Amino acid sequence: MTIIQVRDLRKHFKIPVRKEGRLAAVRNLFAREHTLKVAVDGISFNIDRGEMVGYVGPNGAGKSTTIKMLTGILVPSAGEVVVNGLVPHRDRMRLAHRIGVVFGQKSQLWWDVPVIESLRLLKEIYKIPANIYKANIELFNDLLDLHKFQNTPVRQLSLGQRMRSDLVAALLHNPEILFLDEPTIGVDVVAKDRFRTFIRNLNQERQTTIILTTHDMSDIEKVCARMMIIDEGTIIYDGQVAGMKERFTPYRVLVVDFADGIGKVEIDQAELLKREGQRARFRFNRQKVSASELITRLAPKYRVKDIGVEEPEIEAIVREIYLRSADNKLPDSTEL
Ligand SMILES: Nc1ncnc2c1ncn2[C@@H]1O[C@H](COP(=O)(O)OP(=O)(O)OP(=O)(O)O)[C@@H](O)[C@H]1O
Ligand SMILES: [Mg+2]
Repeated sequence: MTIIQVRDLRKHFKIPVRKEGRLAAVRNLFAREHTLKVAVDGISFNIDRGEMVGYVGPNGAGKSTTIKMLTGILVPSAGEVVVNGLVPHRDRMRLAHRIGVVFGQKSQLWWDVPVIESLRLLKEIYKIPANIYKANIELFNDLLDLHKFQNTPVRQLSLGQRMRSDLVAALLHNPEILFLDEPTIGVDVVAKDRFRTFIRNLNQERQTTIILTTHDMSDIEKVCARMMIIDEGTIIYDGQVAGMKERFTPYRVLVVDFADGIGKVEIDQAELLKREGQRARFRFNRQKVSASELITRLAPKYRVKDIGVEEPEIEAIVREIYLRSADNKLPDSTEL
């Protein structure tokens, strides 16, 4: 069942052109000239209830602008957006009761107030029933160690603690959809791992729909089934994360540790990428030859200590998608 529907959604920002020269300050005051910055350039997608979608793209691609339109913070310039049956910017307060939002760059909590006080305030603002509030606080105590820093003002929290507080705040009212805009920014690997487990459980146990924006591709790989890639305001990929490596590149790397100092090594259908002492890395096309075939060819000729096969990094796949999309745009940019 579709819970988020987006059709040809656009957002442009009007930026006043600053004039220079004599009396510039005065002229800027009355400036009527603007340039348009197109942040989101006509995107369409549907998200079903219970999906976990990664939203990826380079800096300035339009991710946060999209999230802000989906949550009612920004009014679209054109197009349609329906979230949980509501038009976000028209029904912002009603929608707020149904969704949770975390912006990793900026805490939603009161800066000088102990975390628990912020949570109590939110309880009042969102009229969260006492039993739900209590159950959630207990749950998050267990899962996120909330009690360890609940009496600390937000300004004194570590980044990881702040992220956890923001998550708790966003989830207090059992929202059906959770929007996460770079939630793990600056957070260490251990905290990231806890975050990922937490998010997966939330999705499984409550069927919470999750939209996650991040620059960390392992967040996507470990959490999301589906990924959308946005570049210059346009969605250039929307599909399952599983199987992406297969679809976008047939190349794998065979890493071989040889037993003793050997000279030149050659294997048919494998290209030597790098030699470092006893270790050699070969690139091969999985559609043409399998790793085990290559090993069979190597074994009689050289003494081998250890062998492994490396999958491409998801980063490499995403880079490949950007490049292909940039190639398609090439005719427009020949004037450069
Ligand atoms: N309020 C605004 N006024 C003018 N331009 C804006 C405004 N907000 C965003 N932009 C511009 O719109 C574009 C998209 O910005 P957005 O914040 O959506 O990118 P992003 O994909 O979230 O990037 P990042 O990964 O850096 O967070 C950028 O070029 C940005 O400068
Ligand atoms: Mg952003």
